[in-house]
Formats: sequence, structure tokens, C-alpha cells
Amino acid sequence: MSPLPGKRKAKWPVAVLGATGAVGQTFVRLLANHPWFELRELAASERSAGKKYGEVTRWLEGEMPPSAIGTRRVSACDPGVVTAPIVFSALDAVVAGEVEMAFARAGRFVLSNAKNFRMEPDVPLVIPEVNGDHLAVIDGQRRNRGWDGAIVTNANCSATVAAVALAPLHQRFGIRQLFLSTMQAVSGAGYPGVPSLDILGNVIPYISDEEPKLEREMLKLLGTYADEEISNATFKVSAHTNRVPVEHGHTICMTIGFETKPTPEEAIETMRTWEGLASTKGLPSRPPHPLVVTDAADRPQPKSDVSAGNGMTVTVGRVRGDAIFDLRMVALGHNTIRGAAGGSVLNAELLASTGAFDSA
Ligand SMILES: NC(=O)c1ccc[n+]([C@@H]2O[C@H](COP(=O)([O-])OP(=O)(O)OC[C@H]3O[C@@H](n4cnc5c(N)ncnc54)[C@H](OP(=O)(O)O)[C@@H]3O)[C@@H](O)[C@H]2O)c1
Repeated sequence: MSPLPGKRKAKWPVAVLGATGAVGQTFVRLLANHPWFELRELAASERSAGKKYGEVTRWLEGEMPPSAIGTRRVSACDPGVVTAPIVFSALDAVVAGEVEMAFARAGRFVLSNAKNFRMEPDVPLVIPEVNGDHLAVIDGQRRNRGWDGAIVTNANCSATVAAVALAPLHQRFGIRQLFLSTMQAVSGAGYPGVPSLDILGNVIPYISDEEPKLEREMLKLLGTYADEEISNATFKVSAHTNRVPVEHGHTICMTIGFETKPTPEEAIETMRTWEGLASTKGLPSRPPHPLVVTDAADRPQPKSDVSAGNGMTVTVGRVRGDAIFDLRMVALGHNTIRGAAGGSVLNAELLASTGAFDSA
């Protein structure tokens, strides 16, 4: 059990907005026995508000955590109703913009999974091990927007998987060109998501708005922070995104050109020895190894590797040379855990460990 940071004696009360959806349920699972955060409130749309969580939620995996969560009343996503100082948002992007701003204006910390604010220059887009230092733009966000709260975002699920795999290579060899092609799980479309007759035995070579999101977010994630600003990386990136009949886990084939060309062995050694931002070590949700490289010729595969590190480890395999660019490889990560709720919880843990929540 990780002790609470600093002199803190009690867990921080937290709420989940969008608690009934695919990502919201993952938050509920991850927060059920969290050593630092106590899940006090569950909020969703007006359709669900006022009803019991167990009645309005089609629980998707295993058993709903006990502690009477199913009998709790769902709240409206309104900062006048939800009182927790820290809110995890798993809201649909259609409503996330307005709702998250209302919470930040009301002085709350919002850990968002939605796309709405990810690319705003004063909003951090964070994977703690990769770019946890970008959280520092929050001070400017508060000054610019005149609010006491803050919005911190995590990235698109495929961008997260790719960025964890590429961060050590970019830091050492400098990416010049990146080509990605994804095979994305159906849980990435939420619940009920893609109709079964559309996806069973099929591949859909289109996911609305996914390619631009993946392309632009990669550059912010692998950018650098200095003088209160994030400077995006400047390499060229081209993405194809595809939906495949897999339950959880986004698999990404990548071809990469570098400023300094590594051999496959050097690339493997660089990824294997990468430990991520030192200040993330010991955080409750950080896996011992955020990035693992497998030697197996036919891995990573969702069936075998998606739950590595409790869903927080990205697995890379098939690292080899390339006749057009420099290197090819395949990465896999869990979209609703590392790519969504787990990533958000880790962002909150990093904020907590640096004292950002001390007054919350
Ligand atoms: N699934 C993934 O792998 C993944 C990964 C990264 C990021 N994301 C992002 O995370 C967010 C949630 O995704 P999801 O897959 O969990 O979607 P989802 O299963 O469709 O869930 C959407 C949630 O938003 C709530 N909601 C919808 N309209 C609302 C309104 N008008 N006011 C308040 N709440 C409202 C729903 O509540 P009701 O049940 O009451 O309608 C539900 O709790 C999205 O922004 C998505 O892009 C998803």
C-alpha cells in the first residue's frame, strides 16, 4: 500500500463524471480501493441522474465493486451538485467542453479524457512517464483563464500507446518521420459503441476524427516544456486508423525515420532501459515497467499482452530494420486503462505527489 504523500492523513474525495460509460466504469474499478483517492460521487447525464448507479449502468466487466456503489444515486454533472475537489471526467466530447470548464471555474481539478481541451496551449496533455513536466503549464492556465481550478488532459488512446513506445527513441535518436497504422479495439468506441453486425468478422478502415487526433497529439506529447510553454515536436506523422473485432487493446504498426539512425539492437536496448520520468516511480498506478519489449516473433497480441502491468504497460515487439524509413515495430496497450482511466488516475497521482492537491 502506498502511503499518502506529504503529511496528508485522509484520502482525497473524488468524483467520476460520465461514470456509467465504458471509461467511467473503468474509473470506478480503478478507484474502488485506491490508496489515495476515495470515490465519493458518480455523475452522468440527466437520463441517469437521480437513479441508482446499478440500475442505469450496464456493467461491462466482472463484478461491480462492492461498497454499495450500485445503490448510490447518480448525480448530475453540475459543480453545484458534485462537491469533490478532484473530478475524473469520462464524458462524451459533445458535453465535456462546457461541463469541464464549469468545474474548473468552480475551483476543481478536472482530469479529462475528452478531446476538447487537449491541444490548448495552456492545457497539459500528459502521460506521466513521458512528459509529466508539462503539468507546469497549469499555472499559466489559471492566470489566462482566471479560474482556481485546472483542466489536465490525457491523450487519445492510440496516441498514448504510440507515445509511450516512441518516447525513449525520440529522446535519444530524434524522430524525423513517423507512419502509423492502428488496429483498434471495439471498447475504444464506448458502450454500446460499434454495432455487432458491423464489426464481427470485419475490419472498418475508418474511425471518425481519429487520424487527425492521433497525428496532432503525438507532436504535443513528445514536445518539450521550457519557459512556461510546451513546444510541439516537429516531425512528420501520417496515421491510418482501423477498427477491428478485438474487445480491449489497440495494436499499432509503426515505421519510423530518425535524425540519427539506430540499429534494431540499439532501439531495443534504448526502450528496455528507459524508466520514464523519475518522479513517477512509486506512484500507486505506475507499473514497474511502463514499456516492455518482447522477443517473441508473434507478439504483442491483445489476448496475451493487453493486461501487462495491470493494463498500464505498453508492449512492443517485432523491432526490425526498414527499407524505406529506418525502423519498424509493433506496440500494444490497453485503451480504457493506459489509454484512458488508468492514465488519468496516474496523472492525478503525479499531481498529488507534487503537492498540487494540498489545498484540495
Ligand atoms: N473508450 C476508450 O477507450 C476511450 C479512450 C480514451 C478516451 N476516451 C474518451 O473518453 C470519453 C468517454 O468515452 P466512453 O468510451 O466511456 O463513452 P461512453 O461509453 O459512450 O460513455 C459516455 C458517458 O458520458 C455521459 N454523457 C453523455 N451525454 C451526457 C450529457 N449530456 N451530460 C452528462 N453526461 C453525459 C454518459 O452518461 P449516460 O449513461 O447517463 O448517458 C456516459 O456516462 C469520451 O470523450 C471518449 O472520447 C475513450
